[in-house]
Amino acid sequence: MANDSLLSAKKAKNDEFYTVFEYVQKEINAYLEYDPYVFKGKTILLPCDDPEWSNFTRFFAQNFEALGLKKLISTSYSFDSKKSQYEQYHQLTLFEMTSPQYDEKKSHAQGKIYTLTKDINKSGNVDINDLEWRYLEGDGDFRSNEVRALRDEADIIVTNPPFSLFREFVDWIFEADKKCIIIGTIGAASYKEIFPLIKDNKLWIGATNNGKDMVFEVPEGAKVDPKDKLKAEKLGYVGNYTRLGNACWYTNVDHGRRHLPLSLMTMSDNLKFSKHKEILENGYIKYENFDAIEVPYVDAIPSDYEGAMGVPSSFLDKYNPDQFEILGLAHGNLGVELGIRPYDRKLKKINKGLRDGDFYYFKDGKPQIPYSRIVIKKKVSK
Ligand SMILES: C[S@@+](CC[C@H](N)C(=O)[O-])C[C@H]1O[C@@H](n2cnc3c(N)ncnc32)[C@H](O)[C@@H]1O
Repeated sequence: MANDSLLSAKKAKNDEFYTVFEYVQKEINAYLEYDPYVFKGKTILLPCDDPEWSNFTRFFAQNFEALGLKKLISTSYSFDSKKSQYEQYHQLTLFEMTSPQYDEKKSHAQGKIYTLTKDINKSGNVDINDLEWRYLEGDGDFRSNEVRALRDEADIIVTNPPFSLFREFVDWIFEADKKCIIIGTIGAASYKEIFPLIKDNKLWIGATNNGKDMVFEVPEGAKVDPKDKLKAEKLGYVGNYTRLGNACWYTNVDHGRRHLPLSLMTMSDNLKFSKHKEILENGYIKYENFDAIEVPYVDAIPSDYEGAMGVPSSFLDKYNPDQFEILGLAHGNLGVELGIRPYDRKLKKINKGLRDGDFYYFKDGKPQIPYSRIVIKKKVSK
């Protein structure tokens, strides 16, 4: 069906986005600033990678000694398993073709594994030139027993996984109780499988690039919206690049940004001095179907309000678990679970968008639905 093929093309396109060096470096440096020994003695696994030219592999191999790593493992997904739309762009790297291990059949059907542990070439340093490689037995699917065993061996998993398998990927990390630093879309935070992890402080937003465009490299010839290409160029990336406005890092490794308190005004100051006209004019409106106030802007969260507040999802990259607790998400089934009462059926005539599990409030006599609010509460120190 036309729609199905459109959907799979879209998914395939998003799965083949390659992370640029600058973002890997910035994000990893943020963890090091918070704890200089965070990677010391650790085995790092980079699954869903293309080690010959991945910037994750490059960064960790180059910094192997500086980070004090025990072992670096990087695996790739076989070419034949990738979506066929890029077949025409598949090019073997010189690295692979000039290697005595090169095997054309395996090169298509099997994934590859690169490992770095010691100074193989006796240069005096352990670095990118000491990477060893071989073909995997299978295609390198992260769900295979072969890659699962590598996951079990690893301490920290770092990658930009295929966006279309994000839920499964996070589940794969948590079932083995591993640390991770991974890229996803900000929208993934409201997935029913992901949100509970965020609410329980088992997963949080990364340290850098929040709320900003992120540039990704795309395969040669991939179709890129000219607007995104232009935005990537403005950020200094000319060529096979695109940009996403909704990508972010997810992690369960601690970093300093999440311990910075949001600086906020009291409710009475907000009502007098807020830069938002609607706060000055309407104050903080109470929802009809839950005991909480609507806070339409993160910078308008009243510092002294002790009840529940509905805030926009952009709160997540400012979230400091010592300052606030997350009660839930006012969105569909998660909202129902939180105890948001069903909407008054008579109102559907006035607003067709009303849905159980979402908040609504009255403004100018009409029911309004704020988009996917996160419900938070000030943390009261005991
Ligand atoms: C978003 S790209 C990122 C690649 C690399 N980690 C980077 O950031 O540069 C995700 C990669 O995962 C691969 N992939 C897709 N499905 C996979 C699976 N089931 N198991 C392992 N890798 C997969 C894709 O082909 C793609 O190369």
